[in-house]
Amino acid sequence: ERTQVGIVGAGPAGLLLAHLLHLRGIESVVLEARSRTYIESRLRAGVLEQGTVDVLTETGLGERMHRQGLVHEGVFLRFDGRTHRIDFRELTGKGITVYGQHEVVRDLVAARLAYDGPLRFEVEDVRVEDLDTDRPRIRYREHGASQETELACDVIAGCDGFHGVCRAAIPERALRCFDREFPFAWLGILAETPPSSRELIYAHHERGFALLSMRSPTVSRLYLQCAPNESLDAWSDDRIWSELAARLATRDGFVLNDGPILQKGITPMRAFVCETMRHGRLFLAGDAAHIVPPTGAKGMNLAVADVRWLAEAVEAFYRRGDESLLEQYHERCLRRVWKAERFSSWMTSTFHRGPISTDFDVRIQLAELDYLTSSVAAQRSLAENYAGLPFQ
Ligand code: FAD
Ligand code: DHB
Repeated sequence: ERTQVGIVGAGPAGLLLAHLLHLRGIESVVLEARSRTYIESRLRAGVLEQGTVDVLTETGLGERMHRQGLVHEGVFLRFDGRTHRIDFRELTGKGITVYGQHEVVRDLVAARLAYDGPLRFEVEDVRVEDLDTDRPRIRYREHGASQETELACDVIAGCDGFHGVCRAAIPERALRCFDREFPFAWLGILAETPPSSRELIYAHHERGFALLSMRSPTVSRLYLQCAPNESLDAWSDDRIWSELAARLATRDGFVLNDGPILQKGITPMRAFVCETMRHGRLFLAGDAAHIVPPTGAKGMNLAVADVRWLAEAVEAFYRRGDESLLEQYHERCLRRVWKAERFSSWMTSTFHRGPISTDFDVRIQLAELDYLTSSVAAQRSLAENYAGLPFQ
């Protein structure tokens, strides 16, 4: 079997890349290890930058997003029991859209299947080979098959997330990676209760960080900082609600709506960048190449930005035999990636309480937040990064 671009992974990166290539008349095959049901219900990110919304809209994927997504013009920062709003619209002219990642994935899968684009679920034993040649190959087995399939490609896109096989196929000596561990994690819940705020609330509290987000007018999404090795068993629904209420409490009596918890999970926090986003004819995109800590909601948006560059570069390669954009791919992506790492690390360290934070550190955080909410310059900087840096 043969295709132009072999894509490993049907997350936002792989599926959007396939779509962008299709619109440019370039063929691809998407291979996904999990089932369709699984990827369409996996609960993850929820905030789309304006630029992400724009790409999805311009490429015909915006219909449901515009109907169901919640447009927010700002966020609330809460500390010392008081709430301050950062007005993105006024500061940057941009907004954000709250629309679950799995909804984006659903829209992308539907679009792919509507034009019969190859998308294979539950493939096994995926391996990428001959990356240094102009005919790289992907070997895999169809679900349950004993025979291996070989897919010959011109280019392979490694969109298989942090734990995928593509980055691991790059020889150790060629890899340049950087990482930072954070000494805490997030416990996230999805709850059947109307959001207690019309926009997101990022809360600084001596007991640790809390975040109020949402998925719809009737479903809330909340997170609280916990220890990295924490077990979910230690967190009964009652304990989760009372901890959230304590961390989100204000001087003027904020009331947190509670309700049945539909899902809960613990997400580790890490920052990671693999600067080797290209090896021969293999190109990494999204979480396969980089992870940001979740504070600031940059993960999915970065994946979208990567594949915009990649689709453009692959198009230049086919149209004009021009490889210069493929050669510049990692540099164009990394400029954005490192700025998102910077912003997410800053949001994380401003709001979380580490196991060895001192009272001095907490005073610095509060001063940072006080400065932020009293300086238009500082607010504009936050707003610019949160709503999304421009694309060029
Ligand atoms: P993924 O969405 O990870 O997609 C990779 C795909 O490749 C998956 O479908 C996987 O099944 C598939 N795959 C893996 N290995 C193989 C293989 N060998 N062969 C074939 N397919 C393979 N970001 C935020 O901004 N806010 C959040 O609240 C948030 N929460 C998160 C919670 C969790 C538990 C995780 C893991 C991430 C979270 N993120 C969050 C980050 C965000 O979801 C990611 O940045 C985003 O999913 C990146 O998209 P992607 O397409 O690069 O990778
Ligand atoms: C959500 C996740 C984030 O990491 C964030 O900063 C804001 C919102 C969410 O899942 O809704």
